[in-house]
Amino acid sequence: MKQDNVNRFVTMARDYDEMAPYLVPQYNLLQESTIEYFNLEQLAQPVIVDLGAGSGIFLERILSRNKSALCYWVDSSPAFLDIAQQKLARYKNRVTFILSAMEAAWEQQMTHEPDFMFSMSAIHHLENEEKKELYQRCFELLAEKGWLVNIDEMKTIYDDAYYNSLLYWARHVDQSQSLILQDKRDLYFKWVDHFDRWKARNIANFNQPKTKGDDLHEVFTLQMQWLQEIGFVNVDIFLKYHLWCMVGGQKPAAFQKENTP
Ligand SMILES: C[S@@+](CC[C@H](N)C(=O)[O-])C[C@H]1O[C@@H](n2cnc3c(N)ncnc32)[C@H](O)[C@@H]1O
Repeated sequence: MKQDNVNRFVTMARDYDEMAPYLVPQYNLLQESTIEYFNLEQLAQPVIVDLGAGSGIFLERILSRNKSALCYWVDSSPAFLDIAQQKLARYKNRVTFILSAMEAAWEQQMTHEPDFMFSMSAIHHLENEEKKELYQRCFELLAEKGWLVNIDEMKTIYDDAYYNSLLYWARHVDQSQSLILQDKRDLYFKWVDHFDRWKARNIANFNQPKTKGDDLHEVFTLQMQWLQEIGFVNVDIFLKYHLWCMVGGQKPAAFQKENTP
């Protein structure tokens, strides 16, 4: 990973934790609808992985509602780890923290077969080959009938509409300033500082080629096609809110590994 990208995540952990629910459009809806759709509150001891789990906001929602869920936090940032360990301290017997890049072999530290693999706003940092490789690895790791769901910044089908979805986020961040309480304004301005760089990368340099360390947005339909090619069934876009797309699929029940006798 580029050094400036590593630094980006070090400095953004605290303000991301506090500001994401205000400044990522429909942040709460995207997480809550995932919990509702998969009935996560009611399942008996579901095993759940969150890839690029950040400060642990999504895992906290799950662990507080389902008293038997076992969760894996996977992320490469020590700064986000620090905040997630504090946030999830009361669930420490049910959450395993794996400090690792998604591209690396984080699964070697897992001891349970996952029923769900979720990710939010993280996989777009990977190059396309890495995204596909990660989706493939998730497929192999999942329990039969398990689900992979990626809620992420993704391109839409047409470039002009994709550009509008970027402008929408910029407008949303500007307009949300009035919702932030006075004592949190410093965190808002820190977020805006990171976000100015996001705007430069994605809006001002819309037509420039992107490399690792940039936001490597890919079209949601192509990512769904990869999932289908890998073998997922019930592949769908469950929700789309401008730049944010929730795409995923289910591992079929009778899946047999290649070369299995
Ligand atoms: C924008 S934050 C999202 C955090 C959380 N999923 C949420 O929605 O609140 C992106 C997270 O992805 C992590 N991340 C970025 N690239 C990564 C990579 N290659 N491997 C593992 N984690 C990564 C960052 O450290 C950060 O915690």
